[in-house]
Amino acid sequence: MKILGIDTSCDETAAAIVVDGRDVQSNIVASQIKAHEEYGGIVPELASRKHIEAINYIVNRALAEADTTFDDIDAVAVTNRPGLIGALLIGVAAAKSLAYCHNLPLLGINHIEGHIYANYMVHENLTFPHICLTVSGGHTLLVEVHEGWKYKVLGTTQDDAAGEVYDKVAKYLGLGFPGGKIIDDLATKGNPAAIDFPRPMLRSGDYQFSFSGVKTSVRYFVEKAERAGTIDSGEVTIEDIAASFQAAVVDVLVAKTVQAAKTTGCHTITLTGGVAANSKLRSSLKEAAQKIGAEVYYPPFSLCTDNGAMIAGIAYEKYQQGQRDELSLNAAANGSIVDVSDIF
Ligand code: KG4
Ligand code: ZN
Repeated sequence: MKILGIDTSCDETAAAIVVDGRDVQSNIVASQIKAHEEYGGIVPELASRKHIEAINYIVNRALAEADTTFDDIDAVAVTNRPGLIGALLIGVAAAKSLAYCHNLPLLGINHIEGHIYANYMVHENLTFPHICLTVSGGHTLLVEVHEGWKYKVLGTTQDDAAGEVYDKVAKYLGLGFPGGKIIDDLATKGNPAAIDFPRPMLRSGDYQFSFSGVKTSVRYFVEKAERAGTIDSGEVTIEDIAASFQAAVVDVLVAKTVQAAKTTGCHTITLTGGVAANSKLRSSLKEAAQKIGAEVYYPPFSLCTDNGAMIAGIAYEKYQQGQRDELSLNAAANGSIVDVSDIF
């Protein structure tokens, strides 16, 4: 079954063609980073306008690269929640028009479910249940994933998402946007023990996260160091700040994920979302998981960050489960993973 998957939930216009959930025939992503860079973050109105400019071209490229036409497409899937409402609406309007014109079934997909599915697309031996940590610019979510794509939410962030703090800390350090990869690279040259940033909620005894405290600590530290001239004098390096900040975030993510695996007895862990590309998170999680005999899986970078393939992938499962949406399908800025599963 060949599905066209569309995602315009944030700042990437994405379309892909996937056969039977796993066979990615094309995966086209137009990044808007250049347009948002000068603002140091995503400007929602600008994102919507850029999606309008790109959507038809990106869908056509996805079809061309897969060497296919609408005659061979069996369904159109689109992220309709959660995300920036104006941005989501562009993808939803495009998907509805295409489904209507070509008389194809339409499926509205939860973006986070797409991220969770990404690992299943590339790891054929992935078993259920498993623990999935989704970390991106908009989400931090720890869930148990059960057979049939049913989820039990263990925890989420009470304030900023993990990727969001990477981006904000990079902004305080004048490093550019998005900050995750820049900090990841700088951190390899710094000392993670140089500055003792807080590890919020590390010992809260649950699976909730909070990252705004660590972000504020970095900001105060940088402001103080600038006043004292210790950054200019080289006494404190940007690399040390990056490494120490990263260590604080990664310590909390790893501790809670491994604790979840230990407590639930699920010895398979998956990592997904843009922050899953982080080298320190990958290595630390693998190391900590090994100690309890758990296996860690993560997708290739092209499936970590926002893309249409993961949307077409999970849509295949949803189609098998009977999901079909009306042309009245709407977008929603919020949309918890629990709205797709009422089992827990
Ligand atoms: O999944 P994604 O493409 O979009 C959302 O759904 O939000 O994730 C983007 C986020 C950004 O915050 C970016 O800074 C972060 O992923 N990111 C990273 C790395 N690469 C991207 N964070 C840490 N380390 C990285 N290597
Ligand atoms: Zn995402």
